[in-house]
Amino acid sequence: MVATRAAQVLVASNRGPVSYSRAEDGSLTARRGGGGLVSGLSAIGADADSVWVCAALSDDDRAAAAAVGGRLDPADTGGQRVRMLDIDPAVFAGAYNGIANSVLWFVHHLLYQTPLEPVFNQDFRAEWAQYESYNAAFADALAEEAAEGSAVLVQDYHLTLTPRLLRERRPDLRIGHFSHTPWAPPDYFRLLPDDIATSVLRGVLGADRAAFLTRRWADAFAACCADLLGAEVTADGHGLAVRHEGRTTRLGVHGLGADAEFLRERAHRPDVDERMAALREQIGPDRKVIVRVDRTELSKNIVRGLLAYERLLATHPEWHGRVVHVAFAYPSRHDLAVYRDYTATVQRVAEEVNSRYGTADWQPLILHVKDDFARSLAAYRLADVALVNPIRDGMNLVAKEVPVVSEGGCALVLSREAGAFAELGEDAIVVNPYDVEATARALHEGLAMPDGERAVRTKRLAAAATALPPQRWFLDQLAALTD
Ligand code: G6P
Repeated sequence: MVATRAAQVLVASNRGPVSYSRAEDGSLTARRGGGGLVSGLSAIGADADSVWVCAALSDDDRAAAAAVGGRLDPADTGGQRVRMLDIDPAVFAGAYNGIANSVLWFVHHLLYQTPLEPVFNQDFRAEWAQYESYNAAFADALAEEAAEGSAVLVQDYHLTLTPRLLRERRPDLRIGHFSHTPWAPPDYFRLLPDDIATSVLRGVLGADRAAFLTRRWADAFAACCADLLGAEVTADGHGLAVRHEGRTTRLGVHGLGADAEFLRERAHRPDVDERMAALREQIGPDRKVIVRVDRTELSKNIVRGLLAYERLLATHPEWHGRVVHVAFAYPSRHDLAVYRDYTATVQRVAEEVNSRYGTADWQPLILHVKDDFARSLAAYRLADVALVNPIRDGMNLVAKEVPVVSEGGCALVLSREAGAFAELGEDAIVVNPYDVEATARALHEGLAMPDGERAVRTKRLAAAATALPPQRWFLDQLAALTD
């Protein structure tokens, strides 16, 4: 059991550690997911009394959860106790696609094209009601599962109302909320209707502690609380605190790092070696490699990245035939038309670059859209330059993973708007993500960087990137919440 004063630890997140799919014979098989939260939580061990509460995300998840009354078979979860909530599909769609991914995600990543969007109408109100009941379903389940005095770690923008709802049900619990996204500055957060904006803030303030990936996002949250709620924000040796309606919520910062041990082992398995050989073949001999790996996500700024590569080729003909851009853009949230359109644009722009500059024996850009973690690791190993240019990003783990896995040293072109900038800014080539010309120059600088300098910088980047591995990230939060 972990050294914590809480009787028990609970985690709540939209996406849980497993998902189900139906095999050809009709049986349901579980697949364990990856990511910081899954590896972080492994710190408390499979035999601990912890419970992870998550939502069923698909019909297969719902069928699997229903068959066991929502409490998953530990054999499916690597021993972890998981309660999977069977939320009505219409409620889930309104809460997840509607409010979480089309409103809160857009607000925190500054993604709206404000002359036209957002429009907060009656459809939005209906989705908001669904978001409320989705958050209430989590609060109910957590209240039911938690032993007296437990610590509950609520994750992300899907669940901003849950801390407050849970406190109303169970004032004995220690409640933490963690935002994996940026937080919008007050002037942008005010786009939300007043009652909704204040509900979100008051929901998070239901926690004893609200934590963020960087100080910048914590400051923005505090500024929203001061501006929209008139809350009192104080700073002392322990960091920021927000006082509102007679309660104090402490703010924390925990910059999730890369899991070096896992990555180094995983990156040298035979499936990665195989993909590396295939990629090398496709790239061709003696060529530099610029790598990017993202979900096809509007905030990742993939299109401007491709345009910057095109500018590099236009302004530096000496690279023709000597560089290849390997771009992996894995489809994400394709229930939303705006994401499907974005994926199509990425594909179209990539084709244009190839048809403009490609020759019989040189394909300047290799785009893959089918998710393949082993191939991503193979690309990390090969990379001479990594391009990470999000418009805004809570952290961005690719920026932290590449320096750890890279074999020959890798220059990092990094957006100053990624959370990772706070930790990696000194050794990266930093760009304004909207500035395509400057990004093209940064790519050139990365390609031309002398080997010695690149090796030194990569080493420092890898050290900074792994300073807070997922397990410590998780335990630090827990310790800060229960102390
Ligand atoms: C972001 C969010 C996570 C989420 C991930 C994938 O990183 O902060 O909470 O899990 O995106 O998004 P998805 O919608 O596929 O769960």
